[in-house]
Amino acid sequence: MKKAILTLLAMVLLMPATANAKVVMKPLDVIPYPQQVTIKKGSFKAAGAVFNCDETIDAKSLKKIQEFANRITFVSGRTCSFATPVGLAEVSATGRMKGFLFLKDAAMGPEEYSIEITKRNCTVKASAFNGFLYSLQTLRQLLSPDIFSEKPIPSQYFRLPCLSIRDKPRFGYRGMHLDCVRHFFSVAQVKKYLDIMALYKMNRLHWHLTDDQGWRIEIKKYPRLTEVGAFRNGTMIGKDFSSNDGIRYGGYYTQDQLKEVVAYAEDLGITIIPEIDLPGHMLAALAAYPELGCTGGPYEVWTRWGISDQVLCPGKEVTFTFLQDVFTELMELFPSEYIHIGGDECPKTEWEKCPACQARIQALGIKADEQHTAEQYLQSYVTARMQKFLAEHGRKIIGWDEILEGKLEPGATVMSWRGVDGGIAASKMGYDVIMTPNSYLYFDYLQGPQENEPLSIGGNLPIEKVYSFDPYEGLDETAQQHIIGVQANLWTEYIATPEHLEYMLLPRMAALSELQWCKPSDKNFDRFATAVQERSFKIFDILGYNYRKF
Ligand code: ACM
Ligand code: ZN
Repeated sequence: MKKAILTLLAMVLLMPATANAKVVMKPLDVIPYPQQVTIKKGSFKAAGAVFNCDETIDAKSLKKIQEFANRITFVSGRTCSFATPVGLAEVSATGRMKGFLFLKDAAMGPEEYSIEITKRNCTVKASAFNGFLYSLQTLRQLLSPDIFSEKPIPSQYFRLPCLSIRDKPRFGYRGMHLDCVRHFFSVAQVKKYLDIMALYKMNRLHWHLTDDQGWRIEIKKYPRLTEVGAFRNGTMIGKDFSSNDGIRYGGYYTQDQLKEVVAYAEDLGITIIPEIDLPGHMLAALAAYPELGCTGGPYEVWTRWGISDQVLCPGKEVTFTFLQDVFTELMELFPSEYIHIGGDECPKTEWEKCPACQARIQALGIKADEQHTAEQYLQSYVTARMQKFLAEHGRKIIGWDEILEGKLEPGATVMSWRGVDGGIAASKMGYDVIMTPNSYLYFDYLQGPQENEPLSIGGNLPIEKVYSFDPYEGLDETAQQHIIGVQANLWTEYIATPEHLEYMLLPRMAALSELQWCKPSDKNFDRFATAVQERSFKIFDILGYNYRKF
């Protein structure tokens, strides 16, 4: 009996300690949440710590590590110096090094990393640039948000919690889209957009650069694209489609600016995928070169939103010469393997009446069938010709899910935007798919009742709904293999300012990052919401991003 009481006493005394240890280990505020996390007791002081780097780490990764060290030095006022680069063998032999240890581990995947923090060391391992980059983004979110401060904060020692993390993404393609046509955003604003994407470990910017309302890239061979096509004579007001504010509006990026943005993105581990939307959404180009249309014009850069009947004429050979010339210059500017050729919302009314288009249909022997019209097959011909041209230059196409209408050649990647159905159908047919359904991932949609929100295109997409998306729903294992990524789209018809743009983006983009990065079993909206509210919001405040509270 006495023994039993003693045992019970011992249990009561010991249990709270263990139970407590569990209770205080609240999840990390890191977004997207790492795949494997063990939180331990104690902390490591980053301010003034020595950085030891494996001599085999590449120069690009070393530069990022140096930037991180410089930031801690700047904000804390305590110098983080760099020790002479060391070899892996040396590190494991001595085991005595103190401070940060950055090591190359060739056995890891290119986007994988690990972090082991003890009171003495913060050891980071990765095999390649992106892995090191993501380890640093995780470390930034483990430190106080003050790490982003523009002013020194000498009271900050920047303590990192002792823990171990092993992490890698669920999807290889982690994208965010930006429409710079309906409204134009400066190079500085696009860079700011890329910065926040990088914080959340995204690696693709899908940049929508041409449409009915403007042509935004300098093409040297066709100067009128920007002289004429980059500007519109006013913009509709609010949702009144018959109105016009009478204010000339436009802008474009020079080739030097585009190269600058591409290089800036690359330094953040982000590849920019340019989109030339064709054969529809081409009024700005038609206004500049009317011979590219079925009727020959005249055309005007559109001052309103919507879908225009006036599209490129695939009956004329000059159209393909134009497209190939444009893509030739585009490929010089954008090294991305993927090029987006649009393909959405192309009405066929002009093609039905156009002698050149009908002659092309005849010459190709195209016949309508029960599934598709002859004109839909004509669009497939355009898609296939561009796909072939780009493939000859080592590039692959992405197209909106309309490219499935008609006949799609193998090797194309389908971007599912009209819900998930196109993506499900395409993946079952063996095409690679990027999921970007308007039902979950259109960030131009409202985040609450319209009466409380800035004027918007409509829809209903609160952050909880974004977070609930499962890109694999409705797919068997074979089809799942074809879902290469997830992306959200930000169309800007009703978004004219950087502040509004950021308000639509944040914090829904944080939710997107967990769809892209985390295993479904690691998703937890309550944990995520706390991290956003307690850490991301502070980071946004310091960095000057506008965002929507929830
Ligand atoms: C789209 O939203 N029209 C792709
Ligand atoms: Zn035509």
